[in-house]
This record gives sequence, structure tokens and C-alpha cells, in this order.
Amino acid sequence: MNDPYLNDRLPDNLPDDPMHWVAAWIADATDKAVKRNPNAMALVTVSDDALPSARMVLCKDFHADPGYLVFYTNYRSVKARQIAGNPNVAVLFHWDQLGRQVRIGGQAVRSPAAESDAYFASRDWGSQLGAWGSDQSEPLESRGALIRQVGKRAMKLGVNVAKNLQSIIGSERPVLQRPEHWGGYRVWASSVELWIEGKDRIHDRARWERQLVRQDDDAFVTGAWTGTRLQP
Ligand SMILES: Cc1cc2nc3c(=O)[nH]c(=O)nc-3n(C[C@H](O)[C@H](O)[C@H](O)COP(=O)(O)O)c2cc1C
Repeated sequence: MNDPYLNDRLPDNLPDDPMHWVAAWIADATDKAVKRNPNAMALVTVSDDALPSARMVLCKDFHADPGYLVFYTNYRSVKARQIAGNPNVAVLFHWDQLGRQVRIGGQAVRSPAAESDAYFASRDWGSQLGAWGSDQSEPLESRGALIRQVGKRAMKLGVNVAKNLQSIIGSERPVLQRPEHWGGYRVWASSVELWIEGKDRIHDRARWERQLVRQDDDAFVTGAWTGTRLQP
């Protein structure tokens, strides 16, 4: 059966909620393995001087309802410091082979600690060690200094890693707890743009907006989406 989410055109009557479209596009890119990390997205944050800064991160969870996505990072990184100063962020997905682009604007808030704990616990030990081993975004003397730092921190945690960090010496593999400085962010969407490539640059494009009102527990009360078709 023809999946309406995966047509090469948006429906004449724009859907009420674009987030289900985004979820279907991420799932489609993943099913078709269109690139190594189909869930990769550019994340733009803004400095105190209003200078934007972009980098790739991985979208690890997507909740069409109530409308947020999740990525994980170091809470002391540049991006985290910028989010602390200004929670407004932009996110961009692009799947060239599928001719689809998604732009999301919204606000980033830290995920609940228990959610970050559960995700950290699900990762392989190498990635867990990486979270402990790197002071993301801080200056570094040399590659060798980083390898030594990771090795030393691993030892402190009770993991005896080989010098090249490729393997654990011995059979001891203590369960590593999530470091406090590492965890998730939820990006709550307040704007979404769907773009489908068309012949002769006559692309299909529409933008949705909604209100977000932040609550004490860092969740948001969300308004209804309103969609507008845009010239390409
Ligand atoms: C495909 C790809 C995926 C990445 N995923 C993540 C990620 O999920 N989390 C993360 O902290 N960094 C990720 N990175 C590294 C970031 O792009 C970036 O170098 C790092 O987070 C430091 O950014 P900052 O100094 O602006 O905070 C990824 C890089 C690439 C190329």
C-alpha cells in the first residue's frame, strides 16, 4: 500500500501535525540505510554574542507526540554552555538520496536524569568510557595526551584498558555509571519545515508553527500546529 508519508508530494490539505511526517522520514532513511548515520542532524546553538554555531549530533529518540527529539552530549561542551545561555536551537536533517530536508526550530532542555542513565547503560563499554574520558570542547596538547587521559580515567574506574584503548586487559568489566557531565537533551519543536525535492527546482515546501510554554518540570504545554505552504 502507498504510504502517504512517503509520497513525493505533500498532500494538498496540509497535515495537522508535521512531526509524524518527520518520524516517518527518519524511519524510511534508516530502513533504506541511505547513509551511515541516517539519524545524523546538524544542531545549531547560539552564543552569548548571538553568534550561531553548527555541528552534527545523532538523534537517538523521536517523539512525534508530544513533539520532541533527543540527542546526547557532554553537559560541559560548547553546545551545552550555549544552550544554558540560550535554549533556542535549530536542527536540520537532510537525506540527499531521498530528496528530503527537515528543519526544526525549538527549545532544548536536559532530559530527566533517569532517562540519561538508562541510555548510558545501554551503550557499549567503549562509548561509556569515551564519555568519562573526554572533556569535550576543551583544548588538548596532543592526541597522545588524550589517549593517556582516557587510559588513566579508565584505570580509576577499575577498567584496565590496553594502551591503544582497543581492548580491556583481563576479564574485569565493572559496570560504569553515567558521569554527571554527560546526558541527553530534549529538543521541543516549535517550528517544522518539510521540504521535498522537485523537478526543475519546483520543490514542495511547507512550514508549521506552534506555541511552547515551558513548565516547572521542564516539560512544555504545546499549542496546535498551523501549517503554511511556502514557495520553494
Ligand atoms: C555524524 C556525526 C555524529 C555526531 N554525533 C554526536 C553526538 O551525538 N553527540 C555529540 O556530543 N557529538 C557528536 N558528534 C561530534 C560533534 O559534531 C561535535 O564535534 C562535538 O559534539 C563538539 O561540539 P561542541 O564543541 O560545539 O559542543 C558527531 C559528529 C558527527 C560527524
